[in-house]
Amino acid sequence: MMRFLSCTILVLGLTACANRLRTDATLYERLGGESAMAEIAAATVDTLAASPDGRRTMDRVNLPRLKKKIAQQFCALTAGPCRYTGDDMKLAHAGLKISEREFNAIVEILRDVLNRRGVAEREKNELLQLLAPMQRDIVAAGHGMQGARPCCA
Ligand code: HEM
Repeated sequence: MMRFLSCTILVLGLTACANRLRTDATLYERLGGESAMAEIAAATVDTLAASPDGRRTMDRVNLPRLKKKIAQQFCALTAGPCRYTGDDMKLAHAGLKISEREFNAIVEILRDVLNRRGVAEREKNELLQLLAPMQRDIVAAGHGMQGARPCCA
């Protein structure tokens, strides 16, 4: 009887432990790991490059390299096993004069890509929330609210 009870307690303990590990999984793991990062980045860049809001800036860009950099950046941001080695967002987008509309376009494209992959609402929001603060470095001053001055000089 004692042995049965000990075994039951052990099994319950292990189950609780496994459940805990599951909820503690990083966003990187919950999104699907390395292959998911590469696919999400590739689909987002391809769609943006072919869209009216992306054509202007993506025209002469090395798209395979950009996809790799974005996949690496997403991996690092979501606590995956990567180090982002690209330029910071301010430097990478300097001179591109990216508008708030163009920024919103990439967010919408990414949202669609995640929806098509069946990514749950929680993971989708976590990823989008990690990207949102980048807007201030990506959108050029003078475009939209980010660069707006209170009033007239
Ligand atoms: C959350 C939004 C965005 C993220 C996370 C992001 C991320 C990145 C990353 C990681 C790079 C590579 C940096 C490097 O070369 O080392 C990059 C470059 C670039 N991004 Fe973005 N970006 C965003 C929004 C946008 C938008 C809205 C546009 C234009 C519509 C854009 C256009 C570009 C272009 C053209 C480059 C390549 C610059 C070059 O190679 O000369 N990005 N971006």
